[in-house]
Amino acid sequence: MPANRIALVEGDIAVQHVDAIVNAANTSLLGGGGVDGAIHRAAGPELLAECRTLGGCPTGEAKITKGYRLPAKFVIHTPGPIWRGAPSPVGAVSTGEGSGVGGRDEDRLLANCYRNSLSLAVRHGVRAIAFPSISTGIYGFPIERASRIAVREVKAFLEKESGIEKVVFVCFSRGDFTVYQSALEEIANQ
Ligand code: APR
Repeated sequence: MPANRIALVEGDIAVQHVDAIVNAANTSLLGGGGVDGAIHRAAGPELLAECRTLGGCPTGEAKITKGYRLPAKFVIHTPGPIWRGAPSPVGAVSTGEGSGVGGRDEDRLLANCYRNSLSLAVRHGVRAIAFPSISTGIYGFPIERASRIAVREVKAFLEKESGIEKVVFVCFSRGDFTVYQSALEEIANQ
């Protein structure tokens, strides 16, 4: 586990001094509330102007823009899945394709957000990247489940990719921080 390359902080992702911050966007990429709103407010109007040229982004995929007034050089925008599933054991086979009963589609799409954001970051020479807790706010994804998916995907990526030196999970509340701390401890030794 590249534990020394993963950090966990409580705070505002918009002020993080890293090469890229990840935005929990929506598929229009035209801004919103939550972390999306905070990033656009801090980056200034040029961010939205560049987002308008991107033509949106499908759930689970990622697109990159400049960071403008942010300390970060880049913003990587990735729309997370909206949680529809009734919680079931992580990885359980869904009983209905796309029915969301097992939450499997959401799990897969959320994992894609992390993997595609990291791949895009490497392609742009990003060494340090910060993630919010994607989909666990307005999109309602249970954070205990989402944090395990996030940590597992980041760990797997760092084990095969040396290009990324540091991944910071930025939690907006003490409660979220505690959940991610448990996820990191659980997965660190797997
Ligand atoms: N810094 C870090 N994390 C933040 C910040 C911030 N400034 N503001 C909110 N968060 C946290 C929330 O507490 C939550 O844990 O980001 C996580 C994701 O919550 P949302 O921002 O609601 O994102 P999400 O659940 O993925 O929903 C996306 O919300 O903002 C809209 O346009 C966005 O439609 C999209 C939807």
